[in-house]
Amino acid sequence: MYSVPKLKSFSEAALDKAVEKLRAALKQEAAAVKNGAEQKAFRDRWMARKDGVLTEINDLWLKAAPKDAKRTVGQRVNEIRAIVEGAVKKAEEIRLHPATGPSSRAPSDALDITLPGIRRPLGSEHPVIKTMHEIVSVFRNLGYSVQEGPVIETDYYNFEALNFPPNHPARDTQDTLFIANQESKPQRDRLLLRTHTSPVQIRTMERMKPPVRIVIPGKVHRNDPPDASHSPMFHQVEGLAVDTNITFCDLKGTLDHAMKALFGSSVKTSFRPSFFPFTEPSAEMMVSCFICGGSGKRGSEPCRPCKQTGWIEILGCGMVDPNVYGFVDYDPKKVSGFAFGMGADRIAILKYGVDDIQLFFNGDVRFLEQFG
Ligand code: PHE
Repeated sequence: MYSVPKLKSFSEAALDKAVEKLRAALKQEAAAVKNGAEQKAFRDRWMARKDGVLTEINDLWLKAAPKDAKRTVGQRVNEIRAIVEGAVKKAEEIRLHPATGPSSRAPSDALDITLPGIRRPLGSEHPVIKTMHEIVSVFRNLGYSVQEGPVIETDYYNFEALNFPPNHPARDTQDTLFIANQESKPQRDRLLLRTHTSPVQIRTMERMKPPVRIVIPGKVHRNDPPDASHSPMFHQVEGLAVDTNITFCDLKGTLDHAMKALFGSSVKTSFRPSFFPFTEPSAEMMVSCFICGGSGKRGSEPCRPCKQTGWIEILGCGMVDPNVYGFVDYDPKKVSGFAFGMGADRIAILKYGVDDIQLFFNGDVRFLEQFG
């Protein structure tokens, strides 16, 4: 084992020789380090304050050097210190990453493929979109195809072609958000944010001859102040079936089936008269409350979602008004059909027991995460 020699001469040549010997010894001892205990012993032997090699070099070489050699010897000793520290550090790395071993030591900037990767959190479907997909898939399974249309719509498609005459009071039931500065255009061309997905009925019938069976998911807007059950932006899923000999019976059977598919086979449906300009007759459909099972009570508590009635209003529907066929070149004597439209957000609220529609849209990840 290497021990620090006393120097007889402090000449450059003598120093070179002594340093060379020391480096060879250091290299050999470093290569022999295989585990933590050996690495510690190696460090102590070379760096211990009391009688480590560096201390001895300080005593035997630097302190013993004559005045005129102090400078050069001092420089050499500093170099040696750096070399020894480097070797001790390397030996430590080997101990921390034994797999790399002394001979296959990886450069410190090497890619360690055994480290865990960077996890990118996966997003998930928004609960309203998820609900829309579920509704759409029920109708796809019945042979309906999906159609979409623009959210910025003309007065013609949103109202006129759906049999809302200009200035008709039925327009007032849909608090419309109009696009500004449209006054110079004829009324039918003026732009607005569609208040329902029904304009896509017209757009589709303009392009397709009967039979038509379509389902229309989409975003709609109304000028409602936001509260727990209203949002100026919400979602609808619309449906339209036009063919020969379609009756109200088909409407009832189709929607009853769809509600059972969505809410469970034990729900019942019930229809009551209503009014929409583009359907005649029109109805509102109720489903028996799938939260309280139609009893209006949950244990001894009143059932809130159905307001203790046992029924939940779920959609508007009706037989397509013959006037609508006039706008799309269908022959009302040959074809008949039904249409329906439901609020997807409301259905999501009921399905997931959410008590505030705003939660869907204010982007709080802690809320949305729960639907992944
Ligand atoms: N568009 C109507 C609404 O938003 C719903 C509806 C659609 C009614 C289709 C009948 C037929 O209120």
